Amino acid sequence: MAVLESGRLSGFYGSYDEGFLGGEQVRHLEDEWAVHFGSDNAVAVNSATSGLIAAVGAAGIGPGDEVIVTPISMSATATAIVVWGGIPVFADIEPEYFCLDPESVRRAITPRTRAIVVTDLFGLPYDRVGINAIAAEHGLLVIEDNAQGPGAVLDERLAGTLGDIGIFSLNYHKHIHTGEGGIACTDDDRLADRMRMIRNHAEAVAGGRIADEPDMDLVNMVGFNFRLGEMEAAIARSQLTRLDGLVGRGVSNVRYLEAGLSEVPCLTMPKLRPGASHSYYLHSMLFDESVAGIPRETYVEAVAAELAVTEGRESDGPLVFAGYGVPLYTLPMYSKKIAFGSGGYPFSRSDRATDEMYRPGLCPVAEDVLDRIIVHELFRPPASQDDLDDVIEAFTKVWENRSELMN
Ligand SMILES: Cc1ncc(COP(=O)(O)O)c(C=O)c1O
Repeated sequence: MAVLESGRLSGFYGSYDEGFLGGEQVRHLEDEWAVHFGSDNAVAVNSATSGLIAAVGAAGIGPGDEVIVTPISMSATATAIVVWGGIPVFADIEPEYFCLDPESVRRAITPRTRAIVVTDLFGLPYDRVGINAIAAEHGLLVIEDNAQGPGAVLDERLAGTLGDIGIFSLNYHKHIHTGEGGIACTDDDRLADRMRMIRNHAEAVAGGRIADEPDMDLVNMVGFNFRLGEMEAAIARSQLTRLDGLVGRGVSNVRYLEAGLSEVPCLTMPKLRPGASHSYYLHSMLFDESVAGIPRETYVEAVAAELAVTEGRESDGPLVFAGYGVPLYTLPMYSKKIAFGSGGYPFSRSDRATDEMYRPGLCPVAEDVLDRIIVHELFRPPASQDDLDDVIEAFTKVWENRSELMN
């Protein structure tokens, strides 16, 4: 209400003065987010996509630089690299945790590798020890796409602070949201400053005072408008106070569901990385068609037919899905090299055989997981115990009556 009454819905100015760093709510949000997650800097942006682009830009990635990235994620995780002319190099995932596999990352490194972008997929933190050790050995930056894992923990550190820069999403589908929004966290003051520049028309202010600042190199000072509004920031401050409660309820709902679903032989529950707590953006299960005797799609369709739609999400149908997108390297942008113009840029800047880099079969573990995975949102608060029982009953009933679906 204070923001509405002020009539000032954004405090940003695209020039280097008071307003360069945003309005009062944005600054409060950044302070509170940094304290909550234990990070030296939080930079509020208008989406996780903006945050990823700002992070890759701040890292100084340029044309032809290689960045290793997971093939199972939302497309923006890899597109953020392409935006700066970088070359996404897809490494395979861990079969049991679905995050980037350190050994596959190691095999993908060349003298042109500059960074690794990991995703805390479905809310499970990536292998911090394995990946960060490789990064340290080769002088690479780790950008953690934690859009899906706010509140997850690994080795007593919150996800989003496990790499050099961590990105959060505040879009409508996430644990807490502001409609659209995002935040980037880092302990590195220089990276934070560079992200603040990219957030707000860097090219217009990358002279004068900024150019005089020590350590501020002016690479990638193409700026954007990634600025978060005051309403969104005010909502995010309030939402942040609810995060731990929402994640905690989601976790206990998943525990309840997993206990009930353990009786369904064609489903394998997701494993928890040792030392980690999951924050369950999605709950994922592997489906074994050879045990069920029916295709995954048939099973999921029948389960969905047993379930009610979620209030407010009626048009999405029951929130259970056979699969989770495609391996990112099979998107036409990569296979047809149609990112910018018609000359194949930025892939034309790679000294690799890019047809080989973006071909089906590149990451067999990821492809196998995507062929077998079922994901759902049916555990999310405010699901009641009755709702959870309905979910268990639906998966069980379809298993028990699968012979009726065999033809
Ligand atoms: C892993 C991951 N990264 C990035 C994004 C992009 O988030 P946003 O919509 O805030 O740009 C998403 C959104 O679904 C995501 O799941």
